[in-house]
Amino acid sequence: MLAAQARRGGSIVLTGGSTPGKAYEQAAALQPDWSGVELWWGDERCVPPEDERSNYRLARRTLLDRLDAAPRVEHRIEGELGPDEGARRLDEELAGAAFDLLLLGLGPDGHVASLFPGSPQLEVRDRRAAGGPAGLEPYVDRITFTLPTLQAARRIVFLVAGEQKAYAVARAFGGEIDEHVPASLVRAAAAPVEVFLDRAASGRLGIR
Ligand code: 6PG
Repeated sequence: MLAAQARRGGSIVLTGGSTPGKAYEQAAALQPDWSGVELWWGDERCVPPEDERSNYRLARRTLLDRLDAAPRVEHRIEGELGPDEGARRLDEELAGAAFDLLLLGLGPDGHVASLFPGSPQLEVRDRRAAGGPAGLEPYVDRITFTLPTLQAARRIVFLVAGEQKAYAVARAFGGEIDEHVPASLVRAAAAPVEVFLDRAASGRLGIR
């Protein structure tokens, strides 16, 4: 899906975390030319780009360093500036932006991007990006797209794997939209939400 979008060109938003690494490697192998892509990240940790917790570094190692042609634009979130200045800069950069493909992960607590249950950033509707403390490890400040920005994507895809996500998957996608489960709120988007799960992560959805 990532390779096909890269081949078509357009705006792609990457997720952080550990799950997507293999997908990024496969996308680079299938489509080494990303010159038609405008690349974004949905959130970032407030660390330097070479820090092992950096979502940018994950994409550098598993995708960008493996491409023959780099994205025409890379909107790296400047986590090193901290949650306030970094979010302000991202908010400005997001003016007028549109997203053809938004890739998301799911935290075991139901968080999406860096919108954690009960966090003030989850409530922000008047800005495109926000910053603040993390609700789960790694406990470093975060910069994140806000919910309206996530919901504005033309195509929304979750990639979730592992038994430790099964409960969050059931809460996020198996029942009603729930304000205590940030990932479920993405389902209020105009675009349908596509969820790709391994069997372990789907274990509590009642799918046989
Ligand atoms: C981040 C991600 C976050 C991630 C989930 C799942 O910065 O951590 O953007 O939203 O997708 O925490 O992470 P794993 O794939 O590591 O389980």
